[in-house]
Amino acid sequence: MVKVVVNGIGTIGKRVAEAVRKQEDMQLYGIADVSPSGQLKDELSEEGGLHGTPLYASNQDGLENLSDAGMHVEGLLEEEVDEIDVVVDCTPSGVDQMNKENLYEPNNIKAIFEGGADSEIAPVSFNADANYDEARGEDFVRVVSCNTTSLSRTMDAVESSFEIEKATANLVRRGGDIPQDSRGPINSTIPVTEVPSHHGPDVQEVMPDLDIKTLAVKVPTTYGHVHMVTAELESNPSEEDVKAAFREQPRVEVLSAGEGYDSTAKIHEKMRDLGRKRSDMQEAAVWEETITVEDGTLYWIHMVHQEAIVVPENIDAIRAMFETEDQETSIEMTNDSMGIE
Ligand SMILES: NC(=O)c1ccc[n+]([C@@H]2O[C@H](COP(=O)([O-])OP(=O)(O)OC[C@H]3O[C@@H](n4cnc5c(N)ncnc54)[C@H](OP(=O)(O)O)[C@@H]3O)[C@@H](O)[C@H]2O)c1
Repeated sequence: MVKVVVNGIGTIGKRVAEAVRKQEDMQLYGIADVSPSGQLKDELSEEGGLHGTPLYASNQDGLENLSDAGMHVEGLLEEEVDEIDVVVDCTPSGVDQMNKENLYEPNNIKAIFEGGADSEIAPVSFNADANYDEARGEDFVRVVSCNTTSLSRTMDAVESSFEIEKATANLVRRGGDIPQDSRGPINSTIPVTEVPSHHGPDVQEVMPDLDIKTLAVKVPTTYGHVHMVTAELESNPSEEDVKAAFREQPRVEVLSAGEGYDSTAKIHEKMRDLGRKRSDMQEAAVWEETITVEDGTLYWIHMVHQEAIVVPENIDAIRAMFETEDQETSIEMTNDSMGIE
């Protein structure tokens, strides 16, 4: 049983903590945070997904904040280091690095960081499909961002069947998550003026041999990024071959615009209809009609639910770091526990 603490119970942390609770080979030892947000209280309430989970304060100020608000706090996270096997650090970018230096490294605790952390924070930038084995036995692993996860997953499916010579991805990114009401734009499209955008080099942290360039803009939506991809292949598969390769990858869903899923909003509604908690979609969704091959060049468009896609990757990263299961078994266990088919 791997004993896990999730530090930072925000958009990603609450989902990862709930996913850890579903694993038969992991124990959610506790969660940690610094402020008594309504979100944290809801999660721990009787109706919440983390009800009954011990709460720790991530630092001394946090202990005061949480206690002053009347929350039941077990104590400081650093007092538990001898009991914990791994911390999944879902704190904001910058805090993760401080936690590594002040808490995890000095106490020899393994830690997983998220996509907002600098790639230098860990020797491995992780995607379960593309490079599971590289995280085996590591003390620090960074699960890459939502954009990089979807690109790595889809690229890995194409690369392993048809070999990619060169790829370009154009990213249309959501302005903010649903609760991030202070982010924008409200009425604009904002290009990343650095070309390539940082997403291409980030995919190369996972797949170093992949020749990929990315361009990105940000738009006023809250559910899902959209990526338009062009890949020059070493081979010349049929469109059916490519669809089959995507369908074989359980974390890639092939959806048909013709069946009514012709926008991110319609796919959002599908997740609501299916009763997915928070309308989460852990899979990358490729629009079937966009899968086109012409003279060895493959085109497709997919969408990514930014708040959910990295959650199963965190679970697989834990198994890789503790070398408890091989890649295929871990992915299957995680998928089964989370209803990913
Ligand atoms: N949101 C996404 O769509 C998304 C997708 C993929 C990856 N990521 C990455 O995941 C990481 C977390 O992002 P997020 O969106 O989940 O952030 P978030 O919603 O802001 O959650 C961060 C949580 O950490 C808490 N926190 C702040 N300082 C802390 C400290 N010193 N110790 C412990 N907890 C602390 C925050 O509390 P307060 O709110 O009180 O400050 C909040 O509960 C980032 O690296 C991000 O880039 C995010």
